[in-house]
Amino acid sequence: MLDVQAIAHPPLAPLAAAGVIRREDYTPPDWQVPEIALDFALDAAATRVRATLQVVRSSAHDQPLVLDGGGQTPLSVIVDGVAINDWRLEGGALIVPLSGAAHVVETEVEIAPERNTQLMGLYASGGNLCTQCEAEGFRRITFFPDRPDVLSVYTVRLAADKARYPVLLANGDPIAAGDLPDGRHWAEWRDPFPKPSYLFALVAGDLVANRATFTTMSGRDVALGIWVRAADLPKTEHALAALQTSMAWDERVYGREYDLDVFNIVAVDDFNFGAMENKGLNIFNSRYILADADTATDYDFDAIAAVVAHEYFHNWSGNRITCRDWFQLSLKEGFTVFRDQGFSADQGSAAVKRIEDVRGLRAAQFPEDAGPLAHPIRPDEYQEISNFYTATIYNKGAEVIRMIATILGPERFRAGTDLYFDRFDGTAATCEDFVASMEAGSGVDLSQFRLWYAQAGTPRVTASLHHDTGSDRATLTVSQRTPPTPGQPSKQPMVLPLKLKLFGAQTAQTLAPEQLVLLDQPTEHIVFEGVGERPILSINRGFSAPVVIETDRSAADLAFLSAHDDDPFARYEAMQQLMLDTLVESAANGTADHQAVIAAIAGTLDNAALDPAFIAEAVLLPSDAFVGDQMARVDPEAIFRAREALRADVGQRLAGRWRAAYDAAQVDRFEYTPAAKGLRRLKTVALGYIAASGVDDAAGLAFAQFEGADNMTDRQGALATLVAGESPERVAALDIFYNRYGDNALVLDKWFQVQALSSRADTLATVEELARHRDFTLANPNRARALIGAFSANQRAFHAADGAGYRFVADQLIALDKLNPQTAAKMIPPLGRWRRFDEARAALMRQELERIVATPGLSKDMFEQASKSLAG
Ligand code: TRP
Ligand code: ZN
Repeated sequence: MLDVQAIAHPPLAPLAAAGVIRREDYTPPDWQVPEIALDFALDAAATRVRATLQVVRSSAHDQPLVLDGGGQTPLSVIVDGVAINDWRLEGGALIVPLSGAAHVVETEVEIAPERNTQLMGLYASGGNLCTQCEAEGFRRITFFPDRPDVLSVYTVRLAADKARYPVLLANGDPIAAGDLPDGRHWAEWRDPFPKPSYLFALVAGDLVANRATFTTMSGRDVALGIWVRAADLPKTEHALAALQTSMAWDERVYGREYDLDVFNIVAVDDFNFGAMENKGLNIFNSRYILADADTATDYDFDAIAAVVAHEYFHNWSGNRITCRDWFQLSLKEGFTVFRDQGFSADQGSAAVKRIEDVRGLRAAQFPEDAGPLAHPIRPDEYQEISNFYTATIYNKGAEVIRMIATILGPERFRAGTDLYFDRFDGTAATCEDFVASMEAGSGVDLSQFRLWYAQAGTPRVTASLHHDTGSDRATLTVSQRTPPTPGQPSKQPMVLPLKLKLFGAQTAQTLAPEQLVLLDQPTEHIVFEGVGERPILSINRGFSAPVVIETDRSAADLAFLSAHDDDPFARYEAMQQLMLDTLVESAANGTADHQAVIAAIAGTLDNAALDPAFIAEAVLLPSDAFVGDQMARVDPEAIFRAREALRADVGQRLAGRWRAAYDAAQVDRFEYTPAAKGLRRLKTVALGYIAASGVDDAAGLAFAQFEGADNMTDRQGALATLVAGESPERVAALDIFYNRYGDNALVLDKWFQVQALSSRADTLATVEELARHRDFTLANPNRARALIGAFSANQRAFHAADGAGYRFVADQLIALDKLNPQTAAKMIPPLGRWRRFDEARAALMRQELERIVATPGLSKDMFEQASKSLAG
C-alpha cells in the first residue's frame, strides 16, 4: 500500500513467470479464523490497522500460519499476548510459525489510503474513505488468509477525525459509538454472520442518508440508508425505491428474507466496477445510485434498479452462500445476474428486457467466447482473478442458470433453489453444489448439462426444415458444433434447450405449437406430422439457448416471422437476421437490395398492436460490431458504408412514417413509467432515421429536442444525433451541454462518451484532444471508460486503417496501468480481436499488444490479458 509500484510487480514473482493458479490444485485452508477484531485509526495519509485473529488449526498438519499481504511490513506481530520476531515475509505474505491447535495472533500495519490509486483495499474518494475488497483487496488492508473459504465473525472499531469523517460505517449492526480527545470519535460495528474477507467494508466520510424502513415477511423492521454527499440527496429516491422493491421481490419469488437490522448503501465516485455486495454495507459506483430526470437517462434509471437489485440479491446468492474459491465465481455472479434480470423483467416489458439482455450478450460475451480470452464459466486457471470478472462469468453464467430454469420449469426450479439455499446456507460452495441441488430438488438428471460449466465457446446450431407434401410430414434436422477455444481443441455435444414452433406460410396458422426440444447429440431429426402446408420455422424462441443459429430461411420467411411470430423475441430476431443478411451482403458487394428490410420496418411501425418500446428495439439496425461478427474478415469501412446507406434509405423511403412516429411519441411531462420510456425511446430512434435521411431540417429538429427537453433521455438522444453529423448545431449543443453540466461528473462522462462514440471521420482527432481536456483524468475509472473504453468500442474510429486508433488506446492503457491495473486490463480485449481483421490491421494491433507486453513494470493484470491476446 505504501508503494504502488512495489505492489504492481512483487519482487519475488517475475512477470514472465507469473504464477498460474489452477482449479484442480484447490486444497482446504490449513487454518481457520472464526473471529477477527479490527481496530482502525483512520487517516487519509496514514491509517493504522490492528487486527486480532482467533486462529484454529484445521487438521493435523505442521504448516505455519500464512497471512496474505499487499506489500505492507508489519509494525508488530503478537502471538497469545507475546511479541514475536520469528515471523517472515514471503511474496508479500506474513509467515507465522505456530505450535498449538489454536492461537490469538495480532498484527499492526500502517497504510496510506490517499496514495491508493488502484482503488483496491482502503482508499480515498472525494475526500471520504472507503474500501473495495473483492477479490483480493483485503490483504492490502491487513494480513489475513484472503480467500473466500475462510469465514469469520467481524468486530470492527473505527476512529477518525469527527469533522472530516462524521459518519463511520462498517458491516453488520452498530454496537456503540463515542467521542475521543482531539476532535476524534469512534464507532463499533459487529457482523454476526461469518463471512469471507472479500465482503468486509468500511466507510468514513461526510455523508447524509436517505432513510426508510422495510418490514420483512416475518415482520422484522430493517433500517435502510442510502448515503451520499448532502447535495446529492435528492437524487437517491429512485435507488431507495428500487431497494425496497427488490427486497419484496426476493421474498415473493425466491422466499428469501433479509437478515440484519440495517442495510446501508454508500455511493462513491471512484470505483472499479458497478457496485459491491459487502454484507449490510453495499458500496456503489455513484453512477448506479444517483438519478433525476434532468441528469439521468431512462437507461441509467433502469441500470440503477438492476444494480441495486443485483447487489441486494447477493445477500443470499453470494453472502449467505459464498464461493469456495474464485474458480466458482459464476456460482454467485451468474445466478445473481439471472435473478436481477428476472427482477427487471417484472418491472416493465419482459420482452424488451430479454432483447436488451441478448443484445448485451452478443456485444460483449460472444466476441469474448470467440477470441483469445475465451474461458468456460467455471475457468480452469487464471493469473489475475480480477481479469475473470467477465461477460462470460456474469452473462453467459446467467444464461446457463436460465437454461436450467427452462429445462426444470418454474416449480422444480424453485424446489432446486430452495434446496440449494437450505443445504449450503452459511458455507462456501461450488458450482457443482448448485447443480447437484438442482438435480436433487427437481429429479432431473443434469449430467451432460454440466458441460456448460466446463466448455468455452458459443455453440453453433444449423437447422434446416424439409417438408414432404405427400406425407404431410416436416423434418427438422438440427446439428451442433462448438468451435475450438484456447486450450480446448475439441468439444463434446452440449444439452441445448431450444424452443420451436412452426407457422403455415399461406395461412399464418400454427402448424406445430411451441415445444421445448433438448438437443444433446451432434445431429438430430425432429419429425412433425400433419403439416399440410409449407411450414416456416421459429427457433430458439425467447433465446432459450445462448447459441448462434444458422438456418436456410429465405428473406421472405424472415419477413413473415417479423410480422407474424407471436414470440416477441423471435419476431425481433427475424428482423435482425433480415437486417444482418442485407448488411453483410452490402458490405461484401458494395450494394444490396434494401426492400425486404424497408418493408419489414414499415410493417412494424404500422402495427398498432405493438408496444412502442418493442417497436423501437425492432427497427434499430444491428451495430457495426455485430455485423462484423458475421463476416469472415471484418471490413470496418465497408460495414460503416453499408450501414449508413441502409439507414439513409430507410430514413428516406419511410420519411412520412418517421415523422408520424416522432410526432406521436411526444410525452407531455417527464414520467418514469414503462409506457413513457417506450415513447421516448421510439422518438429518438425516429429522430435518428430522420437525420439519416439527410433532410434539411433534421439538425434543427434535433436541436429543438435538445433545447426543449425536460429530461436527459431526450437531451442525450438529440445530442448523439447531432454529434454524428456535420451541422453547426453540433458544436453549439456540445458547448451548451458542457456549460450546463460541467460540474456534474456523471453527466460530464456522457459528454466525453458521446463524442468518443461518434461515427464522424474526425473522431480520433477529437478524442485525442479530449484526452488533453482539463476535465479528463485517467484516475477516475468512469471518466477513463467514458473516453477510452467508448472509443475502442467505436468500430470505425478505433480500426482506422493507419493504426492511429490502436496506438492511442495502447498509449492510454500503458499510462492507466501505472495507476489502476484492474481498470486498464479490462480495456485490452478490443486490441485482442486482431485475428478477425485483415493482415495490415492485425499486424498493427499485434504491434501495440507487443509494445504493451514489453512495457517495464507492467502489472500482472495487463500482462495476462495482453500476452494471452497475442498467443491465444
Ligand atoms: N461482486 C461485484 C458484483 O458483481 C463485482 C465487483 C465490484 C468487483 N467491485 C469489484 C470485482 C472489484 C472485482 C474487483 O456485484
Ligand atoms: Zn455480482
